[in-house]
Amino acid sequence: MDMEKIPAREGNHNLKDYERARQTFSWDSIKSNFSWFETGKVNMAFEAVDRHADNPDKKDQTALLFSSPDREEKLTFDDLRRESNKFANVLRKYGIKKGDRVFLFMPRSPEFYASFFGIIKVGAIAGPLFEAFMEQAVRDRLQDSEARMLITTPDLLKRVPQADLPALEKIILIGEHEETVDQYINYKVEMEAAANETEIEWVDLEDGMLLHYTSGSTGKPKGVYHVHNAMLQHYATGDWVLDLKKNDIYWCTADPGWVTGTSYGIFAPWLHGVTNVVRGGRFSPDDWYHTLGKYSVTVWYTAPTALRKLVSAGKETVEKYDLSALRHILSVGEPLNPEVITWGLKAFELRIHDTWWMTETGAQLIVNLPCLEIRPGSMGKPIPGIEATIIDNEGNELPPYQMGNLAIKKGWPSMMRTVWNNHGKYESYFIHGWYVSGDSAYKDEDGYFWFQGRLDDVINTSGERVGPFEVESKLIEHPAVAEAGVIGKPHPERGEIIKAFITLNDGYEDSEALRDEIRQFVKTGLSAHAAPRELEVRDTIPKTRSGKIMRRLLKSWELGLPTGDTSTLEE
Ligand code: WTA
Repeated sequence: MDMEKIPAREGNHNLKDYERARQTFSWDSIKSNFSWFETGKVNMAFEAVDRHADNPDKKDQTALLFSSPDREEKLTFDDLRRESNKFANVLRKYGIKKGDRVFLFMPRSPEFYASFFGIIKVGAIAGPLFEAFMEQAVRDRLQDSEARMLITTPDLLKRVPQADLPALEKIILIGEHEETVDQYINYKVEMEAAANETEIEWVDLEDGMLLHYTSGSTGKPKGVYHVHNAMLQHYATGDWVLDLKKNDIYWCTADPGWVTGTSYGIFAPWLHGVTNVVRGGRFSPDDWYHTLGKYSVTVWYTAPTALRKLVSAGKETVEKYDLSALRHILSVGEPLNPEVITWGLKAFELRIHDTWWMTETGAQLIVNLPCLEIRPGSMGKPIPGIEATIIDNEGNELPPYQMGNLAIKKGWPSMMRTVWNNHGKYESYFIHGWYVSGDSAYKDEDGYFWFQGRLDDVINTSGERVGPFEVESKLIEHPAVAEAGVIGKPHPERGEIIKAFITLNDGYEDSEALRDEIRQFVKTGLSAHAAPRELEVRDTIPKTRSGKIMRRLLKSWELGLPTGDTSTLEE
């Protein structure tokens, strides 16, 4: 679709001269913004919380503006320092030390953020889990990471496996729980007893801080390992891309179980010391507009799937709210439809800025900057300090307009440093010094990048990454299912939905009741967002002679596309 270019945003941008910054910027040049520039030792929690709490002008500023259907709370930077100090002391009491993995499995809450920074303060590695995960998803991640401790709520405890987790020593429960088991620790009791001050564990820039599990097309979810050094890029992009200024009220709608919810729901805003809105509860157009209006949100980072639902809710809905404080909107996670950008210009009188990056990249890489024109449908240009290109399968760079693999020159600050327990997998992402993203794209003659799709079978449903292998594995655990192949099927609002093809074991008949039961089985075993919306029973599932499910072929059949090369298809 050919759409008109949208000129650069008016106003005072933090990054004014993109071309010059690309030529002159070096990551070294921003190191003096951090305390470790002088001491050599670092801790993200200090830079994002304590540094502001130490500043008399900032300490009483609201850091966290939390709201959920049944709770509303404000924490200043001073509160956040104290609460995270206390939690660090609780962790130390139970022997948690540098490098240990401590996981969080709970809905968004003030306690989540206090615990998260407490973990980082003792030098441990935080592993946030999406609250909708069911037992299998929780088990896979706790097993692989060998987490020593888990923080959760009595409600979610039901989905924490009771066996098979030999490394897991303690479970900290936020909220009342009747059973008294040695393994359980009561959050409230411990926090009341804990001292307000703590010694921060000063670590090296390359020491671990965060593990985010994410899905690929094969195997179980992998633990993407991030280090403290990532803050350079969280800080720089908070400046250039989020365009954060001192008095901003910022809202990132992502859950901290996903990378957007940590890099841009925690690190970038708090490194800049702005007030951060966190909203719990489910999405509804009215609730979201209400949140924007009520807190006078100025900078808003959200996702295409939500924006598309807002478009569907229509003009009448947005017009009910006073959104006059809003000055900057950004989007991530899926392609941003040009129609949504056009609608944003009308509904908010603002541009919506698409940003492209991944769990593995740790921070934004290709973005629409306030100071550049937007070409609707394009992800924008690489930020200063980043080299991006399009390569073929051999690692050769391709000229403009040729589609290929989107690749980034290795060595940016927020890049993953390994895949937990699987360094070989990590190394497989690189060719000739390029990180190969698995996304296909092309660039135009002016250096704008245009997303085309995934090159592997990873599914992106409502902006959440789902690995087909995980869903297939769960499906075949059901007694009726013999084989399963899972694909992403295009969907106007959700980007893609999950469609599963299955064959049945002897003695089972296809019926709507059975299909419902199988869908429910995945939903309750793995997670709601990974459950197939469509399920089709077939006589066979196409496989290669070596036994690999040919998801491409399933997809071509489903979409009525040419099937391409099927020479490896098993008889
Ligand atoms: C997709 C989320 C098109 C892409 C931060 C990528 C996008 C995957 C965009 C990463 C975008 C992310 N336009 N597609 N602006 N941003 N994606 O790891 O396929 O959950 O590889 O990280 O989402 O998803 P992840």
